[in-house]
Amino acid sequence: MGFNNIEEPMNTLKVLMIAGARPNFMKVAPIIKAIELRSSQEEGGIRNIDVRLLHTGQHYDEAMSEVFFRELGIRPPDINLGVGSGTHAVQTAKIMTGFEAVCLKETPDWVVVVGDVNSTMACTLVCSKMGIRVAHVEAGLRSFDRTMPEEINRIVTDALADLLLTPSHDADENLRREGIPPHKIVCVGNIMIDSLVENLPQIRQSPVLRNLELKREGFAYVTLHRPSNVDQEASLRTIMLELDRLAKRLPVVFPIHPRTKKMCGQFGISLTANQNLKILDPIGYYDSLCLTENARLVLTDSGGLQEESTYFKTPCLTLRPNTERPITLTVGSNKLTTLASLPNDIEAVLTRESRFGRVPALWDGKTAERIIDSLLQCSRAPADSEKLAACAG
Ligand code: UD1
Repeated sequence: MGFNNIEEPMNTLKVLMIAGARPNFMKVAPIIKAIELRSSQEEGGIRNIDVRLLHTGQHYDEAMSEVFFRELGIRPPDINLGVGSGTHAVQTAKIMTGFEAVCLKETPDWVVVVGDVNSTMACTLVCSKMGIRVAHVEAGLRSFDRTMPEEINRIVTDALADLLLTPSHDADENLRREGIPPHKIVCVGNIMIDSLVENLPQIRQSPVLRNLELKREGFAYVTLHRPSNVDQEASLRTIMLELDRLAKRLPVVFPIHPRTKKMCGQFGISLTANQNLKILDPIGYYDSLCLTENARLVLTDSGGLQEESTYFKTPCLTLRPNTERPITLTVGSNKLTTLASLPNDIEAVLTRESRFGRVPALWDGKTAERIIDSLLQCSRAPADSEKLAACAG
């Protein structure tokens, strides 16, 4: 049902939330819940917030999408564009075309986008041409590596969004350096940690350790899917050899992303699991977080896992030359690694204490509340970006 199909009370603030790919779902869940909680409250002259959820369909498999809706208690999307996979241009164009029609019909006051996937950028572009205000959650992260598709998505989204909601102060600085007016930037904290904190009881009840016969702090948890690691045959072969080698030291759990699986197939790399190298299909949220909390070592190229392991103080090696989440290096338990230095880095992790680092400020489970506060505060100003100076403090 569209915003316009219901009888709206005066002053209803119409918020359209966008989700498209796996790393989006744990970010939209707490925002939707927080909005629903507040929706009947009088805030700043706004009597009601009506939130709708749009799924672009960028990810569509049960294991890449539906399991997260189920586990995180996200209601079914009000709209699903069903765009599916494709080249970047095809996927982005399909999202834009579908989303423009939705915006014409729904006339949202705010579109809230999260993260850095193609859906984030595509929806922001549409809104900016239509004069619809966009709030970007997880704004300001920069790897300074434009070979990453996500970096392009971040730069474009942040250049166009009206409200930039950042997870940490390093992100504020990046935005200021790019000339974003300071009044548009609000440091609200890490939204992913809201989901983590809320779901800790279920995460701790996950049967995954028992099912895979793993001991606490006695295994490595591996996720790898970045094009820079898995789209080149030489690099993917070396990764698989290193995982074999690591599995001789301790059990390795490796849920394989569809991209990685596809590339292994293309390069004729056999995915032969053994007793100690446990290659699985993609796993759900509870199991992934349970493995992250209990691993002796996380090896990943995912942005989210760098942050989740930091929260649990689990040592993390990130197989990338850079990270857009430097706070996980300076405050948390993360370290960048390369294929050349991986054996030494693994050795160093296995010989040091099994938990270290701190949880960064504002990674406290209350970020969704601060996001709603910022949205409401900015909504008192007219939708003219010049006038946003009146809000956001
Ligand atoms: C996307 C995001 C990336 C994020 C990752 C998390 C962009 C540019 N990239 O990358 O930032 O870290 O999601 O997973 O937005 N596929 C399936 N089932 C699905 C989805 C995809 O089998 O539900 C397969 C398709 O064959 C596709 C491949 O996986 O070609 C890659 O998917 P795609 O969405 O293009 O990029 P990701 O690598 O998943």
